[in-house]
Amino acid sequence: MDDDLFSTAVQNVVPHVPRSSRRPPLHFDPPEHTEYRTALDPVFRRSVIRAHHDDYVAGARQLVADLLAHPEPDAVRDFAAPFVMDCFAALLGVSRMLTREIRDIGVRYSFAIQDMDDPVIADCSKRLYAIAEEVYAQHQASGLDPHRDLVAGLKQAVADDNNGITEKTAIATIRQLIVAGMGAPQAVLGSAIVHLAQDPQLQQHLRDHPDDLPAAIEEFLRLHAPYRVFARTAKRDTIFHGRTVRQNEPIALIFPSANRDVEHFENPHEFVLHRKQNSHLSFGRGAHRCPAATLGRMELLVALQVLLQDTQHFELAGDVEMMNWLEYGPRAVPISITPRIPRNERE
Ligand code: HEM
Repeated sequence: MDDDLFSTAVQNVVPHVPRSSRRPPLHFDPPEHTEYRTALDPVFRRSVIRAHHDDYVAGARQLVADLLAHPEPDAVRDFAAPFVMDCFAALLGVSRMLTREIRDIGVRYSFAIQDMDDPVIADCSKRLYAIAEEVYAQHQASGLDPHRDLVAGLKQAVADDNNGITEKTAIATIRQLIVAGMGAPQAVLGSAIVHLAQDPQLQQHLRDHPDDLPAAIEEFLRLHAPYRVFARTAKRDTIFHGRTVRQNEPIALIFPSANRDVEHFENPHEFVLHRKQNSHLSFGRGAHRCPAATLGRMELLVALQVLLQDTQHFELAGDVEMMNWLEYGPRAVPISITPRIPRNERE
């Protein structure tokens, strides 16, 4: 995708949703967009994300324990949704109370979008802005490393007169990150759990061979790409794959379709644990490629590793309900879980 030719500033979700404001980085084009990525990318490096690993494991462990104690557990409502929200809140380095609020509003917002409940969407959206403002304000005097702390990185960029980042756009960036940090990982984690619940053999294999989890995760990402589609708008007339695209005409990037392209993937509809070539498009490509791919992968790894380790078996306990928009993935996964037999009680 040629980022000079195709813009995300006009439309980025399909169908088009009129917005009151543009939120960086997704709604901005290079070179303006590059300034935001320069501030954000260092914070999403592997070494920074790795520092949260043990806390993420502890969080997942607690959620699985709660799932096991729940009379009617739901793998999305009670596990995937709160887990990914907590991971992102931990990255923001905010207080426990604010973490809880981000989780509650984030989860409520995500379900309101599914229900197209406009008053709740509007209320949650307003509160997410207020949260983003609070996150920004809480870091006012913190003096943290801008290459390791997200808000410190944005604050440093605001203080730098050589770019166009202002306090207002930095807060809008945090607001976009909260929403982006919730949707895709929750959807693909939910899909992976459904996949494993329906394939007990694979479930047991991964329980017995956790080293195969990273390869399985790439295959879950390919098969269950959580973003159905993003849009680009042509800045001038062009020929794209033999088709004329007129200036100002939108085109759709359909990630799940690309991930099942027979010309790139052998048996594209099948789960193949060790694919020779698995360069899927689930994290996008080009200037807007996901800055948080490492975080997304680690969330999936920790969540699935703990879920498999701390259970003996899980299966669906009712109908899976799918999201209707924007992400592709389940919104309700009633699940029945058999707890792991402690080592000292095994024969
Ligand atoms: C498995 C998890 C994830 C997947 C599959 C995913 C996928 C994607 C994709 C496909 C894009 C490109 C959109 C486009 O080209 O129009 C994107 C962009 C983005 N993602 Fe992710 N994402 C994931 C997790 C996250 C997380 C955890 C965060 C935040 C903490 C995040 C923040 C963003 C942001 C801010 C952008 C816009 C980047 C830009 O415009 O430069 N993503 N993501």
